[in-house]
Amino acid sequence: MTGWARPRGALWAAVAGGLRGAGGRPAALLLLAALVWVPGGAPACPALCTCYVSPPTVSCQANNFSSVPAGLPPGARRLFLQNNVIGALRAGTFGPSTVTLWLYSNNISSIQPGTFRHLPALEELDLGDNPHLRVLGVFRGLSSLDRLLLHANRLAAIHRRAFGGLARLTILYLFNNSLVALPGDPLAALPSLQFLRLNANPWACDCRARPLWAWFRRTRVSSSPVPCASPPHRRGTDLRHLRPRDFDACPEDDDDEGEEMEDGNGGGGNGVAVMGTPGCPHDPCAPMATAVPHRPPVLLPLLALILPRL
Ligand SMILES: *[C@@H]1O[C@H](CO)[C@@H](O)[C@H](O)[C@H]1NC(C)=O
Ligand SMILES: *[C@@H]1O[C@H](CO)[C@@H](O)[C@H](O)[C@H]1NC(C)=O
Ligand SMILES: *[C@@H]1O[C@H](CO)[C@@H](O)[C@H](O)[C@H]1NC(C)=O
Repeated sequence: MTGWARPRGALWAAVAGGLRGAGGRPAALLLLAALVWVPGGAPACPALCTCYVSPPTVSCQANNFSSVPAGLPPGARRLFLQNNVIGALRAGTFGPSTVTLWLYSNNISSIQPGTFRHLPALEELDLGDNPHLRVLGVFRGLSSLDRLLLHANRLAAIHRRAFGGLARLTILYLFNNSLVALPGDPLAALPSLQFLRLNANPWACDCRARPLWAWFRRTRVSSSPVPCASPPHRRGTDLRHLRPRDFDACPEDDDDEGEEMEDGNGGGGNGVAVMGTPGCPHDPCAPMATAVPHRPPVLLPLLALILPRL
C-alpha cells in the first residue's frame, strides 16, 4: 500500500486511552511505535484524527482540540479542523500543499502573523463562527484563494490592505460581524469577486458609508442586502440604495480618512496591531461623521510597518 494509511479507529482509541490512563513512559512508547509503524512509510496521521489517501485529507473535526494537532502530514491537501475549541493559530502550522482549510466553529481569537503565508495552493479558507475573533491582519501570498469565509465572527475592522493579492477570490463572506464601516476600500482589491455577503453587521449609513457605497456603484458583484443600523432615520435602509445627496454634508473623501478610521477603530492605535485583543466598544470608538480627527501624516508609514501580516 502506498500513500496514506487510514488508521483503524480501535488502534487509535487504544493508543489514546493508554496515553490518558497510564500517562507515563510506556504509553508514550506505544504511541511512538504506532506512529512509526505505518505501512509503506506513509506519513502518520495525528492521534484522534482520520486520514484519507485521495485526495490527501486529514480530518480532525469535532474532537475538542484546543490547538491544531501536531504532526499534520506535510502533503495534506484538505484539512478539516472545524468544531473544536482551537483558540490560537500559529505561523508554520499549515503546509504549502493545503487546498482546503476548514477552521470554522472553533474559538480562535488570535492568529499569528504569517499563519496563512506561503499557501499558494489554498482555495478555500473557512474561519467562520469563531465568536471571539475580532481582528484580522493582512492576507498575503494566497494567489489561488477562491473562497474566504469570515462570517459569524466579531470582526470590527478590516485592514485596508487585508485582501490585496487575492486576485482569484470569487466568494467573500463577512456577514454577522461587528463591522460599522469598511474604510480604505478593502474590497477594491478583489478583481474576481462575484458573491459578497455583508448582512447582519451594524453598518453606519452616515459619511462612513461612502467608500462602500461608492464601491457598489462601480461594481457588478452579487451581494446580500446591506441594511443600515444607524443613524436612526436610516435604520433598515439598504446601504447600496443611498443617494448621492445623502452624502452632500460629508467632507470630501481623501486618503487619510481611511487610514485614520482603520486605526481608530481599534482604539488608541492597538486594534489592528495586536491580534485577538478586544477592540473597543463601537459607539464610543467609532469616529463621528462630522468630526473625524486629523492625525499627522507622518504616522501613516509607521503604522503600515507595525501592522500584522497574516
Ligand atoms: C474538552 O476539553 C476540555 C479541556 O481542554 C475539558 O475540560 C472538557 O471536558 C472537554 N470536553 C469534552 C466534551 O470532551
Ligand atoms: C474561548 O476563548 C475565550 C477568549 O479567548 C476564552 O475566555 C474561553 O475560555 C475559550 N473557551 C474555550 C471553551 O476554550
Ligand atoms: C452570528 O454569529 C454568532 C457568533 O459570532 C452566532 O452565535 C450567531 O448565532 C450568529 N447569528 C446568525 C443569525 O447567524
